[in-house]
Amino acid sequence: MSATADWYERAAGELAATSRLQVAWARQVAADPELVALIDRLPRQHRQPSLLFSVASWLGAPAVAGPAWRDWVLGNWPAIERAARTRRTQTNEVGRCVPLLLALDRIVDSTPGPIALLELGASAGLCLQVDRYSYRFDDAPVLGDGLPLLATATSGAGRAPARMPEIVWRRGADLAPLDIADPDDVSWLEALLPPDRPDRRARLAAAIATVRDSGPGAGAARVVEGDAVAALPALAAAARVEAPGATLVVAALGTLVYLSRERRHAVVDAAIRLGAHLVTFEGAGVLPEVAERLRGMSAPHPVPFVLAVDGEPLACAGPHGDQVSWLSACSAAGQPELPGGAA
Ligand SMILES: C[S@@+](CC[C@H](N)C(=O)[O-])C[C@H]1O[C@@H](n2cnc3c(N)ncnc32)[C@H](O)[C@@H]1O
Repeated sequence: MSATADWYERAAGELAATSRLQVAWARQVAADPELVALIDRLPRQHRQPSLLFSVASWLGAPAVAGPAWRDWVLGNWPAIERAARTRRTQTNEVGRCVPLLLALDRIVDSTPGPIALLELGASAGLCLQVDRYSYRFDDAPVLGDGLPLLATATSGAGRAPARMPEIVWRRGADLAPLDIADPDDVSWLEALLPPDRPDRRARLAAAIATVRDSGPGAGAARVVEGDAVAALPALAAAARVEAPGATLVVAALGTLVYLSRERRHAVVDAAIRLGAHLVTFEGAGVLPEVAERLRGMSAPHPVPFVLAVDGEPLACAGPHGDQVSWLSACSAAGQPELPGGAA
């Protein structure tokens, strides 16, 4: 099996919790040498299954698996190839505001006061607006009043937030920021979501409407074009000047995986040097220092993404922020460990 076919075969397993349709497409590609040969014409990082599926959907591929999708992809390959060479996976998933809120709550516990929030890989900046949406943890009263309502089931020993953080400054950096005022960017944000996940599409639409309607409010969000590592010092310096006294929080949500190992370290080092708190919500193996601390911890319902504050793992959750499961020391007998020893 070629490396690309193998990649798509593995993706079929990983996408199982995300989209049945994408699983079917991934299996279909893996078994189709003609499709694999076309995909192999792309630079390696642009062969990513979710990127290919999003580009095809964006250009009008039918939302079905089987011969109709294959024929469409073959018939429209030149347009797909052009778009796949320039686009990148930029899903802006407001569900990740759930772990972000948990982390901000923990930070405010130790450092009360307003927050300057700086997100690396912010896409369209929707997660910078974490305090504008509403949340319900298990049966607790709803927190906040904006849509979408992010309802989350939790497990394990942890405390869900009962207050919104006060965010007085918010900036993001992204290699290719998306703009919710630009219809073309919004259609790309929609295409990044699987067509068979109307729930996620509704969540995106609600978040965009809330951000559009709420105006700048306390600290307008802006996402600047730039590399995460390169942009961090200047943005942190701007936060210090524009929001003096606020606690600087650098967040990376589903983003560090796109950086090399050395550059992930550079983000961690820079956050320490700048005296900022670092919130990461990434796959369990993305930051070795987090993976190391995960040894000896367990969660009642292990799920593959890990929320950490300053390298300290707090909880695991699904990749889009669902099913929060608090982590604790393994001494809690009988609890399963994280998958793969969380290495
Ligand atoms: C999967 S998206 C996640 C977006 C957002 N953090 C969220 O959780 O909704 C990853 C984002 O990281 C950006 N990105 C990838 N590499 C980057 C880099 N070196 N510097 C800045 N942004 C980067 C991509 O353009 C993309 O918008």
